[in-house]
Amino acid sequence: MFTTTTKTNLLFLLLTLSTSSIQHTSADANFISATCNRTTDPASCVALLESQKLSFAAADVHGLAWIALQMTTSHASDTLALVKKLFDQRQGDPTSAPLDICKQLYGFATEVLKAAEERLGKGDYAEASKRVGKARDAAALCEAAFGMEYPSPLTAENRDVKGHCSVTFDLIGLMSA
Ligand SMILES: *[C@@H]1O[C@H](CO)[C@@H](O)[C@H](O)[C@H]1NC(C)=O
Repeated sequence: MFTTTTKTNLLFLLLTLSTSSIQHTSADANFISATCNRTTDPASCVALLESQKLSFAAADVHGLAWIALQMTTSHASDTLALVKKLFDQRQGDPTSAPLDICKQLYGFATEVLKAAEERLGKGDYAEASKRVGKARDAAALCEAAFGMEYPSPLTAENRDVKGHCSVTFDLIGLMSA
């Protein structure tokens, strides 16, 4: 039934799979820790990466940066959804003005993070980090939009998105260093 070529291909596939799973079971908490130790906030970096199982299968810094960026994008887009919901609920409330600003900012942040993914995919590290930096600024501006007058309902989200952006920024930076 199987031609020799098919058998050889299957064998090759099995060998590749088993070799990579062996590498992955031994390297990885250590690899994450060693990589994060080269960033400015190792604890946040480890916390972010270890919250995603895929990180333990990443073979290199590029893989870890990619995972961090995807998590950052997804967190920013969840935050955008929350901002829209709060904005709709608070029509006529004084916080609707800063919420409107945050809606624009998070719309921008999700776009710019998707653009960063595209750049990272092309190995264009400088442009990818620049975009991640802009998303971090957007989260900071959203928090600032509430100023002294109104308590921000988005403090935790803004802090987390900023933190995720910083970790991602540092991981991408390791590749251009
Ligand atoms: C990372 O740094 C921590 C704290 O200095 C240390 O305990 C840990 O062994 C380091 N990890 C690796 C893999 O070098």
